[in-house]
Amino acid sequence: MLSEQAKDAGRHSTAGQRYCIGIVGAGSIGCYLGAHLCQDNALEVKFFGRETMALELAAHGLSVTSFDHHTYFAQPVAFYSSLNSLIECDVVLLTVKATALVPMLTQLKRFLRPEVPVVAMQNGIGIGEMLSQDLANPVLRAIVPFNVVKNRAGQFHRASGGAIVWQQSDHAAVNYIINAFEQLKLPVQLCDDITAAEYGKLLLNLNNALNAISNLSLQQQLLDRNCRLLLAAAMQEWLHICRKAGIKPVSYTGLPNALLPWFLRLPTALFRLAAGSMLEIDEQARSSMWDDLQAKKRTEIMFLNGAVVRMGQLYQLPAPVNTLLVEQIKRLESGEAAPLSINDIMQHAGLTS
Ligand SMILES: NC(=O)c1ccc[n+]([C@@H]2O[C@H](COP(=O)([O-])OP(=O)(O)OC[C@H]3O[C@@H](n4cnc5c(N)ncnc54)[C@H](OP(=O)(O)O)[C@@H]3O)[C@@H](O)[C@H]2O)c1
Repeated sequence: MLSEQAKDAGRHSTAGQRYCIGIVGAGSIGCYLGAHLCQDNALEVKFFGRETMALELAAHGLSVTSFDHHTYFAQPVAFYSSLNSLIECDVVLLTVKATALVPMLTQLKRFLRPEVPVVAMQNGIGIGEMLSQDLANPVLRAIVPFNVVKNRAGQFHRASGGAIVWQQSDHAAVNYIINAFEQLKLPVQLCDDITAAEYGKLLLNLNNALNAISNLSLQQQLLDRNCRLLLAAAMQEWLHICRKAGIKPVSYTGLPNALLPWFLRLPTALFRLAAGSMLEIDEQARSSMWDDLQAKKRTEIMFLNGAVVRMGQLYQLPAPVNTLLVEQIKRLESGEAAPLSINDIMQHAGLTS
């Protein structure tokens, strides 16, 4: 996946230097990526996160598994529940949820050396701009296309494939990390147009809210035609906005993005046939937004469907389905009232089965 130039940059930067990498917000993605980097002796990896995670990893060690059978174990890990040691880091992989970025900024400004690049790995739109407004450090974006779930204490599992899409840079330590991931069989794709990559990932993440509202497993939800019709409509709204904005979102599915709504609208029997491996999801799996709501945490809705609504206003294009989805998630977050059912949302949006 990497160009020869990037490979050289990665290899040559190692000469005599041991880079210190900070994983800031060590949860599913942070622990998964960090465990890989721990395998490289030229890297010193520091994990920053919650005390509960520190205790969990101290007790169980950190291991990662993958659908393609790559397994790594890292023990002991250097885990910090205070950010003081960030001062030693040469690169930061920022892996908190988008909702945790604002409070985190104050801490980053306090402890990070100003030349240290920060790689923001959140889902959602506007993250890089938000960080760059407040932070003097170089900010890069990386988009994670696969899902990572915690199987049991200390063990993180990658449930799906795809290469991490990483904004191109000439920073030696960043290129070293990218190269290390490649060596460890975690593919990375360098990208010049990170906006297109971000916008393409959002297209898929529009389903998170719908999954949480439906209260179904992802598999059941995908086999429900009304859920698919709503998802198709939410995607169509985003694709219209992208077209007006002059952005061609990257496709992560193997299908051209423009065909996705059409594909989702197929009758269920046909969809089941055509979807094939797309439906090979753990029967219990649900979206992380559903998990957040169960844990009574704020969701990333305003960075996902909320971003579609904001951009729709900017380009004067209506986004009624995404607006309805945002409203329902807000209701669930506040614990105020039951959201509309999928059928009610269909009716409000003027969609018929
Ligand atoms: N998981 C996936 O499969 C996946 C896939 C692609 C992209 N992403 C994106 O990657 C990002 C991270 O997702 P994730 O699933 O890894 O989230 P996560 O499991 O919640 O991990 C984030 C960790 O950071 C901790 N944290 C938050 N604020 C902190 C602070 N100020 N100091 C120390 N620790 C702090 C959180 O603790 P608390 O929970 O206690 O706040 C949590 O343990 C999200 O934007 C998500 O959309 C995730």
